[in-house]
Amino acid sequence: MEVVITSSPGEVAADAISGHVHPGAVLGLATGSSPLPVYEELLRRRDAGTLSFDGVRAFTLDEYLGLPRSHPQSYHSVIRRDFTDRAGIEVDGPDGEAKDVPAEAARYEAAIAAAGGIDVQLLGIGTDGHIGFNEPGSSLASRTRTKTLTPQTRQDNARFFDSVEEVPVHVLTQGLGTILDARHVVLVATGATKAAAVAAAVEGPVSAFCPASVLQLHPHVTFVVDPDAASELR
Ligand code: F6R
Repeated sequence: MEVVITSSPGEVAADAISGHVHPGAVLGLATGSSPLPVYEELLRRRDAGTLSFDGVRAFTLDEYLGLPRSHPQSYHSVIRRDFTDRAGIEVDGPDGEAKDVPAEAARYEAAIAAAGGIDVQLLGIGTDGHIGFNEPGSSLASRTRTKTLTPQTRQDNARFFDSVEEVPVHVLTQGLGTILDARHVVLVATGATKAAAVAAAVEGPVSAFCPASVLQLHPHVTFVVDPDAASELR
């Protein structure tokens, strides 16, 4: 695992992602606030003519269950708005409107495998150490499945909705085992609210109490953190 402490996490993470971008590449994308500077930098490079997304496809990490795909805060809508529509990248994600959720989870795992697996997976981290929506207590070998969000995560995500009550309780998320299958994992964390989770993930024991700590077992992980998010590292 490498940990890069930088005041320009968007650029450093974009460097790591760009190295994998070529025709046929498969990107794993995260939603939320942390990846936004990365997406802006990747799009800036495309606009400058130094990067092309031709022949690139992508998969997202997770989706709220029961939220219509057309809802502006469904991750289906968010990733298109934030990045893939602007990049011209075809993207697949778990279907939060699926009637048969286990079948949808199996379809999604099969789709990633059929694409040849994920070349580079971009991640954020929750204040409770979640990656994807694998909350504390998640099996370290888990595959795509439904999970229940903690009150903390619903509170953290309430800023995207009118109230915390509107944040869905259940989600469909890639498992920790699914994420570990990516060939390179790039995790971006910014701000002091992420400092404890970053320290637990990087320096704590590998434990389901901090799901991101499972990344210590992966052979190629890059944490890109700003000084505030790094402030609890020893
Ligand atoms: C989003 C996701 C989550 C977020 C995490 C951090 O697809 O899987 O794990 O990355 O909740 O969210 P932000 O970046 O908004 O602080």
